[in-house]
This record gives sequence, structure tokens and C-alpha cells, in this order.
Amino acid sequence: MELAERLQHMVRIARRAGDMIVEARQQQNFSHQYKGGDELVTEVDVAVDQMIADELEALAPGEARLTEELTPDRSQLERPGALWIVDPIDGTVNFAYGHAHVAVSIAWAHDGELQAGVVHAPFLGETFTALRGEGAWLNQQSISTSPAEKLERSLVATGFPYARDKRAPLIRRLNHVVHACRDIRRNGSAALDLCHVACGQLDAYYESVSPWDFAAGLLIAREAGARTGHLYPCPDNLPADLYGENLLVSAVGIHATLGNLLRDADAGKRVETD
Ligand code: IPD
Ligand code: CA
Ligand code: CA
Repeated sequence: MELAERLQHMVRIARRAGDMIVEARQQQNFSHQYKGGDELVTEVDVAVDQMIADELEALAPGEARLTEELTPDRSQLERPGALWIVDPIDGTVNFAYGHAHVAVSIAWAHDGELQAGVVHAPFLGETFTALRGEGAWLNQQSISTSPAEKLERSLVATGFPYARDKRAPLIRRLNHVVHACRDIRRNGSAALDLCHVACGQLDAYYESVSPWDFAAGLLIAREAGARTGHLYPCPDNLPADLYGENLLVSAVGIHATLGNLLRDADAGKRVETD
């Protein structure tokens, strides 16, 4: 199957998932559960994951899948060949509370390299797509990152893990960033944060997240001209494209400065408040 044709199917499946999400919100009859302590998961997350898995299996029988709810087996990241990476609902807390930043994220990688991605946000009416080496689009219009050059004129997004005991070092980073940039956003969907860097609605995004949170959005941001990378070297056994620790994705002009600022925060350097 040609990559462009694959992407068309990914968009069709993501839209079908989006319709399920919108309908579930209208009906408001889904149950809430918790996994790993305080992490919310609804029955809609699981149902959408299952629907996408069935569609992908019909489309490409036997291809490996890494999906947040049903097949979160990360050992697949180390294997060569085709891999689907799926977050059925990115922004589950937003979904449950009635906010609009909710997305379906589907990426396809081959031999550890991202090739195609779709992030569909049904409440925002935004469908972001990208093909490796060919560009990125929002509702089929080509997109590109902001021309930001200065941190003090930049809008920076980030997020926090559900595990509260892992948040303290991130507050140190936040303290540095909030003193240096225009403002910050915590919109609650990593996939959309990356897409909003891609189309210039944000200038930068940094966070540590799981492969399903970022895979499609990372390709979309990169193809829109963002500089994508990590604050520290990646482990040798994992492809950098699929490694989500200490991600930094931004307009090219502020990447180095923001990276240095975040590493300064990690090193315990004092905040400059001018
Ligand atoms: C979460 C969102 C959030 C990020 C969290 C993710 P979920 O995904 O992407 O923005 O800060 O780290 O876990 O749980 O809504 O799929
Ligand atoms: Ca997610
Ligand atoms: Ca999710």
C-alpha cells in the first residue's frame, strides 16, 4: 500500500473514532475507572481503542500495534518492521470534564522511523496529518511553525504526569520557563500541543510522555518545520523517533535557548527574573 493511501485510511479511521467520542459525550453515559492509582480511563477510551484495532487489522493484517489501552507492550518499540502507535483518546481528563482539547492519534512507523500520522480533534474540527518528507497539513491545508526567535515572545506548552510524586522537578522547569517566556499553556493533550506547535498556535512544547501521546504529533510538527529533539541523549536500544522522555519540540529559532533553560532548571541553577 502506498503511504498516501495508508494515510487516507488513517484519517477515515480517526474520524470514525472522533464520531464515537462526540456521541459518547452527548450521551454522557460512560463509566469512569482508574488505572495505576489515579489515572482516569473511561469505557470510551477502551471502546475506541478496540474499534481502531479492528480497523487497522482489517487494513493491514498482522502488522504490530502499540495502543494505550489494549496493547501497551513497549517491547514492540525495539522490533524492526511496521508498527502502529495509537492513542484512542489523548486528553481523557478533558474528555471527561467536557473540555475541547481531545484528540485521536494514529501513527505508522517502519523500522523505528515515523512515516505517517494523523491527529484528529473532533470538538475543535481540526484534523492534522503528515507524511514523512512531504509536509504537514491542517484540514488539508499546508501548515508551518511560527517564526519565533525570542523566548520572551514565545508561548510554551507543557504537561505533567498523573503520578503526583514525579511533578516536583517539573515545577522547577516551569519556574524557569514562566519567568523567561510570554506565557505558558497546559492544554491537556500532548498530541494537540505538538500539532499546535506545527501550525504556529504555540511556539514550543516540552514534556516526557508515552509513545502513543506523541508519535503522530511529533511527525506533524517536524514536517511543519519544527525542530524536534530531546534534552538528553536517547538510549541506544530505542529509536529516537519513538522515545518520549524529555521531548523538546519548537520553532527552530528558540530551540537551543529553551533547551539550555530547561537543562539549567534540571541542574538547579537559579531562576533569572529580570
Ligand atoms: C495525557 C495527555 C496530557 C499529558 C499526559 C498524557 P491521556 O494523555 O497527553 O497532555 O500531559 O502526560 O498522559 O492520558 O489523556 O491519553
Ligand atoms: Ca495520551
Ligand atoms: Ca489516552
